[in-house]
Amino acid sequence: MAYNSKKAGEYWNKRIDQTDKTHAVLNMGYPNAVNAAYNKWESVLVFKYLGNPKNQKILDVACGVGRYTIPLAKAKAELVGIDISEQMLARCAEGLKENGLQGRVRLLKTSASEIPLETTFDNILCMELLFHLPSDVQQKVVREFARLLKKDGHVMFTTSNNERVFGAKKTPTTWEEGYYCEFMDTATTLKMFEKEGFKIEHVFSYTFSSLLLARFINFLKPLYPISTWLDWKVSRFGFMDRKLGNHFLVIAKKIR
Ligand SMILES: C[S@@+](CC[C@H](N)C(=O)[O-])C[C@H]1O[C@@H](n2cnc3c(N)ncnc32)[C@H](O)[C@@H]1O
Repeated sequence: MAYNSKKAGEYWNKRIDQTDKTHAVLNMGYPNAVNAAYNKWESVLVFKYLGNPKNQKILDVACGVGRYTIPLAKAKAELVGIDISEQMLARCAEGLKENGLQGRVRLLKTSASEIPLETTFDNILCMELLFHLPSDVQQKVVREFARLLKKDGHVMFTTSNNERVFGAKKTPTTWEEGYYCEFMDTATTLKMFEKEGFKIEHVFSYTFSSLLLARFINFLKPLYPISTWLDWKVSRFGFMDRKLGNHFLVIAKKIR
């Protein structure tokens, strides 16, 4: 079954009704502790490389329930959040309200491949989206990033790794209800960004943590903090990361 963006939107609408906010936007099948550890690894790096968000114009692409939108709004960034699912956007709006941030963020229902905005942004975030799109749509999304980003601005995005030895889905998978997953060949993805005028500045690998967390969760739980620390400190997109890494966080700069 081919990718269908309308069905994908319906899938994400349903998914947020079926589970809690974290499982709706991170790994649905993993226990909370696993998602919490992943969230920590990813968000520490994002905030480190974003710098002080105050007054930055940031576009949160596929903002979901606001995992980044809400803390960034708290930190006084000037934000637009877009998502294909109105239910995700509704939860994001709810979260903003609960934090006294209503009216602080413009939320827009649209596909990331055709964003009806003309203004440009200092930085763009795109977490956990690209591997839910087929490669031709990914390329359109990257083109939109290039159009909407100021020169020298950064896009931060995550990929999944189809070269890893354990657990990679080698072929695109579409579920009847619209869920789509196409694990990515990271080298090809990076080229896709370079083609649109980006320079890849950093690739961080979620390698040690994913091995422990996904496979030996109960037995090795006490080691989570060590594995997360190792991923922050020593992972470099080398042979080991390519073969064992689960997710990559990429920071790319628009240079032309
Ligand atoms: C795995 S969730 C990630 C949400 C958020 N970025 C995060 O990391 O917490 C994927 C999100 O992408 C949204 N989405 C899926 N396809 C999209 C598309 N073509 N354009 C914009 N958003 C899309 C879904 O509705 C969902 O909110």
